[in-house]
Amino acid sequence: MTRYLFFAYSLAIILITGDLIFAQESQDELSLPTGTMMLAAPAHSKTKMSPVVFPHSTHFQFSCKSCHHEWDKVSPVEGCASSGCHEKLWASPPGSTPLRDRKVKSLTGAYHRVCRECHRNQLEENKKNSMSTSTAPVTCEQCHPASQAAVERSVDALDIPMGTLTLTAPEGTDTKRPPVEFPHGGHFDYACQTCHHEWDGESPVQNCTTADCHDQAEADEKTRNINDPRNSLYFLAAYHKACIECHRDLSKQRTRLEKTGTLDESMLPVHGPLACNECHTDS
Ligand code: HEC
Ligand code: HEC
Ligand code: HEC
Ligand code: HEC
Ligand code: HEC
Ligand code: HEC
Repeated sequence: MTRYLFFAYSLAIILITGDLIFAQESQDELSLPTGTMMLAAPAHSKTKMSPVVFPHSTHFQFSCKSCHHEWDKVSPVEGCASSGCHEKLWASPPGSTPLRDRKVKSLTGAYHRVCRECHRNQLEENKKNSMSTSTAPVTCEQCHPASQAAVERSVDALDIPMGTLTLTAPEGTDTKRPPVEFPHGGHFDYACQTCHHEWDGESPVQNCTTADCHDQAEADEKTRNINDPRNSLYFLAAYHKACIECHRDLSKQRTRLEKTGTLDESMLPVHGPLACNECHTDS
C-alpha cells in the first residue's frame, strides 16, 4: 500500500510542478500487485457472502484492459469502487436514479459480469477443444465458499517501467544501427505475455537478452533466416519477429479493412513503425 501512496504523491508533485511532467515521463513506474488478493464489499456495507479470492497474477495472460477498462496506460490504476466508477454495491431500485447515472454498473454487477462471463466462456472453449475442464470458478460456492479462512492474501508488488525503454544489442555486439526507443506503457493493451512469454506473472521480469534467452549475438553460420529454429536465441531474430510481425499484421488488417470500404478512422487498427529508420532512429 505504501508504494501506491508513494506513487500518488510523486505524481501529485509532478502535476504541481507542471512542466516537469515531460522530463519525468520516461521514468514513471507502475507498482503492480502480484499474487493473490481478496475482493470484498466496501467496509460499511452489509454483506451475505464470503469475500472472493482473486489471483491477480494468474490473469496477466489477458490484457490489463479486459478488467481495468478505463485505464489510459499512463495514470495510476483506480480501484473498481473508486468514486465515479462502480461506487454502489447494488443497483438502485428502478426509477430512483437519473438515466445518465444508471449506465455505471453496481460493484456486484460489474464483478459478476466481468469475472463470470469470461470464466463461462473459458469453460465453453475448453469443452469445445475437449480439454480438461477449466479451473476458473463459475458457481456461487466456488467464488464465495462457506469458509475462506484457509486462503492467504499473498500480495506483493513489482515495479513496472511505463515510459520509453532504450533497446540495445547485447553488450560487445558490433552494431550497425542506432538503438531502438520503445514506448513500453504504450503497448499495455496487450497481455504482458505477448512479449514476456516465459513470465509467470509473479517473479521479476527477465531481460530479453538474459543468458540462455535471446543472448546469441550473431546469426547461425548456415542461415540468416530469422524464422529458422537455429536462430531462435539470436537477439535480432527475437526482436524483429516480435516487434515487426505484430506491426505488419496490424498494417495488413488495416489495408484489408480500407479495401472493403471502412474509412472511419476509429474502426481501423493503428500500428507501430515498419520501416528500419522509424525504429532505429538517430537522435
Ligand atoms: C467468478 C466469481 C464469482 C462468482 C461465480 C459469483 N460471485 Fe458473487 N461476487 C463476486 C465478487 C468479486 C464480488 C464483489 C466482492 C464482494 O462483495 O465479496 C461479489 C459480490 C457478491 C454479493 C454482494 C456482496 C455480499 O457479500 O453480499 C453477493 C450477494 C453475491 N456476490 C452473490 C453471488 C451469488 C448468489 C452467486 C451465484 C449465483 C455469485 N455471487 C457468484 C464474485 C463472484
Ligand atoms: C481479470 C481482471 C484483471 C486483470 C486482467 C488485471 N487486473 Fe489489476 N486488478 C483487478 C482487480 C479486481 C483489482 C482490485 C481492484 C480493487 O480493489 O478495487 C486489481 C488491482 C490492481 C491494481 C491496484 C489498484 C489499487 O486500487 O491500488 C493495479 C495497480 C493493477 N490492478 C494493475 C493491473 C495491470 C497493470 C494489469 C495488466 C498486467 C492488471 N492489473 C490486470 C483485476 C484485474
Ligand atoms: C478475461 C478472462 C477472465 C476474467 C475477466 C477473469 N478471469 Fe478468473 N480466470 C480466467 C481463466 C482463463 C482462469 C483459469 C486459469 C488457469 O487455469 O490457468 C481463471 C482462474 C481463476 C481462479 C482460479 C485460479 C486457480 O488457481 O486455478 C479464480 C479464483 C478466478 N479466476 C477469479 C476471478 C475473479 C474474482 C475475477 C473478477 C475480478 C476473474 N477471475 C476475472 C479468466 C478470467
Ligand atoms: C510489446 C512487447 C511488450 C509488452 C506487451 C510488455 N513488455 Fe515489458 N518489456 C518489453 C521489452 C522489450 C522490455 C525490455 C527488456 C530488455 O531490456 O531486455 C521490457 C521490460 C520490462 C520490465 C523491466 C525488466 C528489467 O529489465 O528489469 C518489466 C518489469 C516489464 N517489462 C513488465 C511488463 C509487464 C508487467 C507487462 C504487462 C503489463 C509488459 N511488460 C508488457 C516488452 C513488452
Ligand atoms: C502485439 C502487437 C505489438 C508488438 C508485439 C509490438 N508492438 Fe509496437 N506498436 C503496436 C501498436 C498497436 C502500436 C500503435 C500504438 C498507438 O499508436 O497507439 C505500436 C507502436 C509502436 C511505436 C510507435 C509509438 C509512437 O508513439 O508512435 C514504436 C516505436 C513501437 N511500437 C516499437 C515496438 C518495438 C520495438 C517492439 C518490440 C520490442 C514492438 N513495438 C512490439 C503493437 C505492437
Ligand atoms: C519495430 C521496430 C523495428 C523495425 C521496424 C526494425 N528493427 Fe531492427 N531491431 C529492432 C530491435 C528492438 C532490435 C534489438 C535492439 C537493438 O539492437 O537496437 C533490432 C536490431 C537490429 C539489428 C542488430 C543490431 C545492430 O544494430 O547491428 C540490425 C542490424 C537491425 N535491427 C536492422 C534492421 C533493418 C535493416 C531494418 C529494416 C529492414 C530493421 N532493423 C527494422 C527493432 C526494429
